[in-house]
Amino acid sequence: MDKILVEGGVPLNGHVKISGSKNAVLPALAATLLTSGKNDIRNIPNVRDVHTMIALLKELGASADSFHEGRLILDTSRVNNSEAPYELVSTMRASCMVMGPLLARLGRAKVSLPGGCAIGARPVDLHLKGFAALGANIQLQEGYICASAKKLKGARIYFDTVTVTGTMNLMMAAVLAEGETILENSAREPEVIFLAEILNLAGAKIKGAGEHNIVIDGTSSLRPLECAIFPDRIEAGTYMIASAMTKGEVEVSCCIPKHFEALSLKLREAGAEIEERENSVFVRGSYPIQPVDIKTQVYPGFATDFQAQFIALMTLAAGSSTINETVFENRFMHAAELKRMGADIAIQGHSAIVRGVASLSGAPVMATDLRASASLILAGLAAKGITQISRVYHIDRGYEKMESKLSRIGARIKRVK
Ligand code: EPZ
Repeated sequence: MDKILVEGGVPLNGHVKISGSKNAVLPALAATLLTSGKNDIRNIPNVRDVHTMIALLKELGASADSFHEGRLILDTSRVNNSEAPYELVSTMRASCMVMGPLLARLGRAKVSLPGGCAIGARPVDLHLKGFAALGANIQLQEGYICASAKKLKGARIYFDTVTVTGTMNLMMAAVLAEGETILENSAREPEVIFLAEILNLAGAKIKGAGEHNIVIDGTSSLRPLECAIFPDRIEAGTYMIASAMTKGEVEVSCCIPKHFEALSLKLREAGAEIEERENSVFVRGSYPIQPVDIKTQVYPGFATDFQAQFIALMTLAAGSSTINETVFENRFMHAAELKRMGADIAIQGHSAIVRGVASLSGAPVMATDLRASASLILAGLAAKGITQISRVYHIDRGYEKMESKLSRIGARIKRVK
């Protein structure tokens, strides 16, 4: 198992280029199942979850050469298998997004019920309720969701809870359904808008993506997708926080500042200097770091995917801050690991009370999920001494070449077998 070693205390300085968005490319890859032909997708990040999704699509009958310099040609003309196996789905929850396209394309889908995951139970009940509303028959058999429908029929669907992949799954099912579908209380994340845009480019008729209600007029077929994946807003924000933590001066380029306005505001409150440019943002960190209270929200609020990284920053603030996680029920695993580095964090229900300390000290720590591992690396960058992070496969799921991007801006970081 690889480990990452970080020697802290170096202010980051320079320019980091953001890769394509993991949470935009996964639905885009699933959406290729709706088409029958050669899909051409560019700016794909080379991260583990992408390889898992490609493996799943091949299992379903798609064919592809290995992607080269971020570009993949995916031929979905021979998609004929509708079963997504447990081995693949259990390693990546986003696999459940093949259900909507398979139901729409083949009229059937057998997808392993995604197990829980470190940050919460993460049920898919709202996905299934939506498919049933479109006329699908849903059965649970031996840990698999078995769905079938002769022809999906448009319906009015209301999401009791805002769900990002739920909105995407139902959007993909509805584009080939008969008649009109209305998705109410939809997720408004940029990745939802991106998916609607690339589906419309392929002939779908989707209106209102990014608002609470999305209206989809079903069509008979779609052309193959052709698109370039937009930048990863969570990767961008992670490097912004890294600069703020290390008194750095970092230009984060190839990003869309509008996608992380809530984070920029909070970083300014914490004392960082933020300059937003056309497709980049400049962050100058300064001390003392001011304590800032956070409440995670659905977009356009403060994203839950920034919470772990922001807590790492707050461990060094000149005061106490309260971080309230409202989206997931168990997303504070990083707290125990940060405390091993000298952080002072008390968990009270869905909130973390962080009392700033003068400094963190390097220690051996363990990654538990994707964003928690990022927060441990950030803490290591600011800590005195060496931090050793184990189970770094979590990082590899969603951050492309993180060590080399950080070394290029001055970090003393390396991966050891
Ligand atoms: C997406 O997960 C992201 N993943 C997550 O990013 C992100 O944290 C999350 O949205 C929230 O922004 C991808 O896009 C691949 P949800 P998703 O459905 O869609 C509950 C990362 O670090 N819920 O919006 O699975 C659920 O339990 C990952 O990149 C139901 O109750 O999240 C949660 O409490 C982590 N029933 C809340 O809704 C359902 O049927 C929001 O979950 C579906 C969801």
